[in-house]
Amino acid sequence: MPPPDAKPRHIAITMDGNGRWAAARGLTRVAGHKAGLATVRMCIEQCSQRGIEALTLFAFSSENWRRPAEEVSGLMTLFVEALDKEIDELHAKAVHVRFIGERRTLAVRLQARIAAAEERTRANPGLRLQVALSYGGRWDIVQAAQKLAQQCSSGALAAGEIDEERFADALSLAGLPEADLLIRTGGEQRISNFLLWEAAYAELYFTPVLWPEFALADFEAALAFYAGRERRFGASASAPARRVGA
Ligand code: FPP
Repeated sequence: MPPPDAKPRHIAITMDGNGRWAAARGLTRVAGHKAGLATVRMCIEQCSQRGIEALTLFAFSSENWRRPAEEVSGLMTLFVEALDKEIDELHAKAVHVRFIGERRTLAVRLQARIAAAEERTRANPGLRLQVALSYGGRWDIVQAAQKLAQQCSSGALAAGEIDEERFADALSLAGLPEADLLIRTGGEQRISNFLLWEAAYAELYFTPVLWPEFALADFEAALAFYAGRERRFGASASAPARRVGA
């Protein structure tokens, strides 16, 4: 049996189900996203308390721009308000906050909050929190390829020197451990263009619970699922595998 405290170093979460939660209550979709903020707080708190190194939250995908304008602008306002409201608390908890995604597509006022939050928490030694905004795993791979191609055309890098490590270093999450546990709420069982590279060996935990209702017990259930997994990273069942926590 793995030790009961076997824990992931990096948790990634697709926070799905806000819209359905709101619709079931006759509320707007934006009200659902607002309700989801309480779950965000709980997960950050839990990861901080448990000494989990990194938490990456999928808050707005490259594809989410296709949503109705009202929902998109409601979400952008919510991100600005959430940052204004939460940044003191995050800083007090020594959380190191970073945003990944196509930043130039975001509203200028949001870009300003993001830059200020990153600057303020840059030296914090606690939880590494990544918020993915206007992010897509394919976008990230393409921007990494462009970066490396530029280095090749300037003569700083030879094409043959590009290996997995160098490629990973050009991605938005460079320097972080790869995702160990990917949680998706809301019942869909898809990756949906989240951490395509970094989740290559992640354990996948899908739950029908809608994000605003994802409670401490649900978070603990995801950790228990992870603690029971045997991670082989491509090795065969008979070869020495690494049981989580071993
Ligand atoms: C997906 O649910 C959720 C989103 C697109 C937004 C998630 C954002 C938050 C919870 C706010 C987080 C804020 C910060 C600062 C981290 P959905 O709308 O697709 O739900 P549905 O599948 O039920 O329609």
